[in-house]
Amino acid sequence: MTQYGARHVAIIMDGNGRWAASRGQPRPYGHRAGVEALRKIVRAAPDLGIEYLSVYAFSTENWKRPEAEVETLMDLLVEYLRGEVDELDREQVKIIFLGDDRAMPERCKREMDIAAARTGRNQGLVLAIAVNYGGRDEIVRAVRRALADPKKAAELDEETFGDFLDTAGMPDPDLIIRPSGELRLSNFLLWQSAYAELFVTPVYWPDFDEQELERALQHFQQRDRRFGGHG
Ligand code: FPP
Repeated sequence: MTQYGARHVAIIMDGNGRWAASRGQPRPYGHRAGVEALRKIVRAAPDLGIEYLSVYAFSTENWKRPEAEVETLMDLLVEYLRGEVDELDREQVKIIFLGDDRAMPERCKREMDIAAARTGRNQGLVLAIAVNYGGRDEIVRAVRRALADPKKAAELDEETFGDFLDTAGMPDPDLIIRPSGELRLSNFLLWQSAYAELFVTPVYWPDFDEQELERALQHFQQRDRRFGGHG
C-alpha cells in the first residue's frame, strides 16, 4: 500500500456532459462512462491509503436538469448499487449516503437501504455517496436536528455540531478533487472542507483514472498544511 497521508478524499465527479459532447454523444453516454470511472476509483482507493472516499453523485440543484437526465442519473444509481454491492461487500467496503434521501425516488431508496444494510458492518473503505446532497441543506438539517434536543443545542460547539451532520463519525476531507477544471466547491461538504486541500485537474471525470488519483495524492503530499498556524 502506498501511503500519501490523505485519509479522506472527496471527489466532485464533474465533466460527464462535456466528455460526451466531445465525442458527439448525448449526456447519458457521459454519465454511464462516469459510473465506470467511479468503479475503478473505488477499487484503487484502499491501496492508496484512502480510508474514506466521498463522491458527489447528485446535488440538491441537479433536480433542475431535464427530467430525462434526472431519470438517467437515478437509474444509474440503482444499477451501480445492484451491480456492485456484492463485490464491494466482499472487499469490506462500507457504503453510506450523504444527503436528504426523503426526496429520492422509492426505487433508489430501496437499493440505498439494501446497500447500507448489507455493508454496514464492514471495516474497510468507507464509500460515502452524496445524493440529493447540498452543503447548505446539510447544515440546515443539522441545525434542525440539534434544536430538537435543547440540552445538546445549548452545549453546541464546532466539534459536537459535526455529530449532527450527515458525515457524523467521519474525519474531515483532507483532499477535495475536482475534475474538468472548474474552480469551485459547488455546495459540496461546505462545513467539512474548512481545511481541505483542493486539487483541480482539466481531465473530465470519465477519463479520471488510478494514475490521475495518484497524481492528486502526490500533489497533496507536497502541500504544507498549517491549519491556520505557522512554522
Ligand atoms: C457532473 O457532470 C456529474 C453529475 C451531475 C453526475 C455525477 C454522476 C455520475 C458520475 C454517475 C452516477 C453516479 C452514481 C453513483 C451512479 P456534468 O453532467 O455536470 O458534466 P458537464 O459539467 O460537463 O455538463
